[in-house]
Amino acid sequence: MAHKQAVLLILIGILSATPALSDDSVQRGKELAEEYCVRCHDTSPAGAFKTYPPSFASIAAFRSEGQIRSRIMFQPIHIGMPRFGLILMPEDLEPLVAFIQSLERKSD
Ligand code: HEC
Repeated sequence: MAHKQAVLLILIGILSATPALSDDSVQRGKELAEEYCVRCHDTSPAGAFKTYPPSFASIAAFRSEGQIRSRIMFQPIHIGMPRFGLILMPEDLEPLVAFIQSLERKSD
């Protein structure tokens, strides 16, 4: 019972979280990305498009905030990305989303 409630609270937190696009959050997200994501994804602002796995700059350009958030947490295991929903702390999610979104190029 307590376990189910905890899962529910985490899900509510994920689905209702408001964007935290502060500089601190972006910086924290960058550190997390350099720790967990960079071995597969290009995390630089100049990341190329049409690469696989996609660069974070291209994810920022093509995916909504909600898509980014859910794909980090619920990425199915068979397509090669670890299930970060099981690895990251819940509070690490928003900084990662904020960092990826910060890479969106304003004009391209
Ligand atoms: C072991 C390699 C690996 C690591 C580490 C990894 N990813 Fe991925 N990621 C992938 C692959 C492969 C895909 C593409 C899946 C597909 O589209 O079939 C992907 C896709 C994604 C997507 C969805 C892109 C889209 O098309 O919408 C997001 C968002 C993402 N990764 C974020 C992250 C974040 C954030 C981290 C670090 C916490 C991370 N990834 C770490 C391999 C990885």
